[in-house]
Amino acid sequence: MRILIVGNGGREHTLLWKLRRDAPGAAFYATRPNGGMAPHCAAVDIAPTDVVALAGWAVANRIDLAVVGPETPLAAGLADRMKRSGVPVFGPSAGAARIESSKAFAKDLMAGAGVPTAAYEVHTDADRAAAFIESVGAPVVVKASGLAAGKGAIVCGTVEEAVTAARDMLSGSFGEAGRKAVVEEYMEGEELSVFCLADGEEFVPLLSSQDHKRIGEGDTGPNTGGMGAYAPVGFVTDALIEEVGDRVVAPVLTALAEGGNRFSGLLYAGLMITREGPKVVEFNCRFGDPETQAVLPLLASSLLEPMMAVAEGSGLADHAPVFADAAAVTTVLAASGYPGSYDKGAPIDIPPLPRGAEVFHAGTALRSGRLVASGGRVLAVTALDRDFERARTVSRAVAQAITFEGKYYRKDIGWREAERRS
Ligand code: AMP
Ligand code: GLY
Repeated sequence: MRILIVGNGGREHTLLWKLRRDAPGAAFYATRPNGGMAPHCAAVDIAPTDVVALAGWAVANRIDLAVVGPETPLAAGLADRMKRSGVPVFGPSAGAARIESSKAFAKDLMAGAGVPTAAYEVHTDADRAAAFIESVGAPVVVKASGLAAGKGAIVCGTVEEAVTAARDMLSGSFGEAGRKAVVEEYMEGEELSVFCLADGEEFVPLLSSQDHKRIGEGDTGPNTGGMGAYAPVGFVTDALIEEVGDRVVAPVLTALAEGGNRFSGLLYAGLMITREGPKVVEFNCRFGDPETQAVLPLLASSLLEPMMAVAEGSGLADHAPVFADAAAVTTVLAASGYPGSYDKGAPIDIPPLPRGAEVFHAGTALRSGRLVASGGRVLAVTALDRDFERARTVSRAVAQAITFEGKYYRKDIGWREAERRS
């Protein structure tokens, strides 16, 4: 079997790690693999968004399954192109990927399907946006409609701040992504990430997780791509997941299918668990990063089989996932300065790992055989243990033991779960 992984971040390293366990005999390929992926796959030097070249490469190399990690190539039509070329692909069409690539599309779809989410309006005119902001009052959230690498949502404590944010956004501070601004009501509650493998209107949820988006401890400071994650989440019951399936995932998959945008791949529901129940913060059309680094190591059953079933459209009925009875805590190691500008090139040393710990690479590269930092988020340390606190301690200890110049990590990953348990 020949498997292509598109993307080279922490999520893609984790996908490669899991799929290698599921199919030890398969040949693996990845686009521009990072320093942790490179020893385990052949490198394909094509940009993920170069959809024509990449689909052509996949045909020429008789790829049996292409797994697309990031949203940008999906929004650019990589899955459509692969499918048309006869390459089995795990990942939605560009039309279905709009659930993530256009927040305006996602909000309108949810409104039409009666899916619980924050009240909102979509604006292209700053004065109208300001009028809506004043009518909602603070706190209020201003979001770029387009893709902004997880940094397009501004939670505003005052009306003035929100009006300024909307004006800046609409006059180009987020580029094309901010030409449309979604203004929405602030939701109070705890966030939850629910991943669902989806094949059209059929879906199966994976273990739910929580990530830490802010750079600072105690969940403070600017948003990042994600500084850590853990799974499972203590307050999540079967009943809650059933409610999310019935009220959120099923209606959205149906609405997408009815609109001619059948979704196949991974649907990520980013939820706020409010006093009125779960409400959607956003959808993503791919696995979350860094939640994947916590969720997949707990998946005891095959990921390859359901992925293949989704790619072939043969349904998920026989593919109920089985999870280990354990907890996973993932600590992200970032370069100093992230999410702003940061230095690259620092040599990295990873000491021998204790049992139950895995290091997933994100922004790393091999230079003359030496592992160096090459991105904002550099590594993620996942620790597994039957005991949550122990997993948390090990994740933090390994993060501390790894060295590179300018290393930054949060020491409080999983603090909400720790508080709940104590
Ligand atoms: P998004 O880009 O939509 O995922 O938003 C990024 C983060 O901003 C979310 O994970 C939340 O922490 C926060 N956020 C976004 N929308 C809202 C909202 N309506 N109410 C409260 N917090 C929000
Ligand atoms: N962890 C948030 C995301 O992947 O968008």
